[in-house]
Amino acid sequence: MAFFKKNYGWLIVSVLATLPLIPLVKTGFDGGKENIDMLYHISGEFSIRWMTAVLTCTPFFILFGVTNLFVRQAMGIATAVWSLLHFILFIWAEGFLETFTQFNYVAGFVAVLLLIPLLLTSNRISMRFLKTNWKKLQRFAYLIIFLSLLHIAILDKTWLIYAIIVGIGFIIRIPFIKHNILQWRQNRKAV
Ligand code: HEM
Repeated sequence: MAFFKKNYGWLIVSVLATLPLIPLVKTGFDGGKENIDMLYHISGEFSIRWMTAVLTCTPFFILFGVTNLFVRQAMGIATAVWSLLHFILFIWAEGFLETFTQFNYVAGFVAVLLLIPLLLTSNRISMRFLKTNWKKLQRFAYLIIFLSLLHIAILDKTWLIYAIIVGIGFIIRIPFIKHNILQWRQNRKAV
């Protein structure tokens, strides 16, 4: 019970991130062109949803003062694993070289490549080892979300809602705005 109380945040993220594998595997076994589109849809959507969610962690902390490193890392892992799965499904259906036939695929490909070092360093040992470089590495996330949104926008799929959420998050992160929100929260606490 004590374990669950301490770890329920990342456990919930892990369960939520794993559940869509059920329709994914079922669709994969059914086969057919329509189902391949469905596989792209499921894996692509969960990649961008988790990516948006993980980028919302810092603005959420600024607004509400709530943060949890393990939850954040679990969300980061979910993002990278779903993106890699999306790419593996593409290779399986179309072949690796097909990646270089369209600009939007190349944008997605670079995003997936940049996600790999983030995935490999999403743990406390790497954090301790890399020190300040860990934070610098995490900044790849901004380029990754830009490339991912570009990929989705060119494909003419749903991208605007994610761009708005991430955009609001970036506005909240602007030092002047962040400082004012933190100050306002502190004043409210003091009253
Ligand atoms: C090598 C990298 C990638 C390749 C080759 C690739 C390929 C594809 C393909 C073939 C589709 C379906 C297009 C269609 O139905 O017309 C698709 C859709 C999509 N991809 Fe990617 N993708 C890549 C990376 C990414 C990344 C990094 C993300 C986001 C984190 C992403 C998010 C999406 C989304 C949200 C869709 C739309 C799904 C839908 O609503 O149907 N993709 N991608």
